[in-house]
Amino acid sequence: MLSYFKQTIERLKSENRYREFLNLSRICGEFPCAIDNNSGRKIVVWCSNDYLGMGQNEETINEAIKALKTYGIGAGGTRNISGTSSHVVELEKNLAQLHSKEAALAFVSGYVANDATIQALSSIIPDLIIFSDAKNHASIISGIRNSRLTKHVFRHNDMAHLEELLAIHEKTQPKLIIFESVYSMDGDFGKALEIVALAKKYHALTYVDEVHGVGLYGKNGAGLCEDLGVADKIDIIQGTLAKAFGAIGGYIAAKKEIIDAVRLVASGFIFTTALPPPIAAALTFNVKYLQQDDSKRKKMHENVVLLKEKLQQAQIKIIENKSHIIAIRIGDAVRAKEVSKRLLDEFDIYVQHINFPTVERGDERLRITVTPFHNESMIDDLVKALKLIL
Ligand SMILES: Cc1ncc(COP(=O)(O)O)c(C=O)c1O
Repeated sequence: MLSYFKQTIERLKSENRYREFLNLSRICGEFPCAIDNNSGRKIVVWCSNDYLGMGQNEETINEAIKALKTYGIGAGGTRNISGTSSHVVELEKNLAQLHSKEAALAFVSGYVANDATIQALSSIIPDLIIFSDAKNHASIISGIRNSRLTKHVFRHNDMAHLEELLAIHEKTQPKLIIFESVYSMDGDFGKALEIVALAKKYHALTYVDEVHGVGLYGKNGAGLCEDLGVADKIDIIQGTLAKAFGAIGGYIAAKKEIIDAVRLVASGFIFTTALPPPIAAALTFNVKYLQQDDSKRKKMHENVVLLKEKLQQAQIKIIENKSHIIAIRIGDAVRAKEVSKRLLDEFDIYVQHINFPTVERGDERLRITVTPFHNESMIDDLVKALKLIL
């Protein structure tokens, strides 16, 4: 039987898809630097999704330590069986408030939030038809597959195609449109305004994945839909607690009946242990922090503009977008890996190359994330190194 496993490994190796993880020590106070545990060298990390460094924020850590010492490391159970702590309840209250929704529900990850919620919809609305953007994340695709609901995949951001598909069905037919606010690999924005208008015209519910928007966009850091003024028209807002909010977990925010029904039927919510109190306490702090203080968010966006300008001056082509995600298309798995390796070996710069299945074959790339803590000299070093290698 082991030969099956060996064959899979060999196949992935032959397709240049064998992944080797970089073993890192992210040292508090050193962000965005880390120690590469293979070489022992200090490197600058340019691909973290701890977008604002909140995972190592000192006050956040103190909140976690306080809860850790008082309540211990674990939740002690699933939400239904002894795992609901005051911290997770408080976190959900704050998430609902952040999104100006009636309620929120916390999951163990953003992936699970998507997968479990979408799957749960099939037992809540058995004849629901799903309309999903072609570039939606793997967790959304998994949720749709597991739901076994009828689905239509519309071409990425193609509103004419979406409308064509919506129009096939009766107005009374329950429908749900699922899209992302910021697409994580190309960094382009979803068409929230247009989707909300189409949803109204065709009586569809709307579901947005704000994983790459929360904490980073909007006056309160509630995401791109807040920034665009359409968050109140979105029925279900899904987000992560693992990127701008710095730790782990995911959630949905919506009307209280939606949250209550998902809470009661979603397998990925019911049958897993709750978020631990220290994590929930740290996250509550970070959600409130980023709601009240936009300085980190602003600085990140300033750095994004600066890096994009410097790349342009150096004639390094990036995938055009209006977001914080900076992607350089390499278009070849071997070359992308080689560029990433040279950046690390020769310049102590870590940019992970992204390959299939995260992006299509032939669309391999470097995906760069700049934080408020990258300084101008780090930005200059990155641009110089890329200029030499590319
Ligand atoms: C668009 C999108 N949705 C959902 C997820 C899953 O979030 P999490 O990392 O919290 O599981 C990701 C993860 O990168 C993502 O990019």
